[in-house]
Amino acid sequence: MMKFLIFAFLVGCVTALTTPCRNCNTVKGPKGANAPTPTGTCKTVSIEPCTQQPCELKKGTNITFSVQFTANAAATTLTSEVYGVINGVPVKFNLPNPNGCKESGITCPLVAGETYTYKDALYISHLYPAINLVVKWSLLDQAGSPIFCVVAPAKITS
Ligand SMILES: *[C@@H]1O[C@H](CO)[C@@H](O)[C@H](O)[C@H]1NC(C)=O
Repeated sequence: MMKFLIFAFLVGCVTALTTPCRNCNTVKGPKGANAPTPTGTCKTVSIEPCTQQPCELKKGTNITFSVQFTANAAATTLTSEVYGVINGVPVKFNLPNPNGCKESGITCPLVAGETYTYKDALYISHLYPAINLVVKWSLLDQAGSPIFCVVAPAKITS
């Protein structure tokens, strides 16, 4: 039992990579430099499983994204949007659960000044090409303004 717990603990720890947020507007290009300034303050991004950047996104698996941020304004609804940016061209990923208020670790509405950890999973389809890309993940409020918008280098592997 103890051995199992230690094993589970190690697996739980070593497979997630946590980094400071890299905001979308740090990326060059029309969808990057011109990206609106997020209304929230993003702190860390955690990708699981991942051990080093670029994170390997294995086909046929779920990748969990966790983002810790502080809301600087109230928000009533939250919608997640994920793009894979391939050679500067953003391609939208379909999220099984784009509702940021549901099963995301967040209870809506967001309260200004509070810190939250948002969590959602992305399924890596077998249909995706094995390619290097930049994952761009944003959480939008009821007005469509980003609360956070982060980018992370990744590669899809089979
Ligand atoms: C991925 O997550 C979805 C939704 O939770 C689940 O139905 C599916 O079984 C998961 N797939 C894998 C390969 O873990």
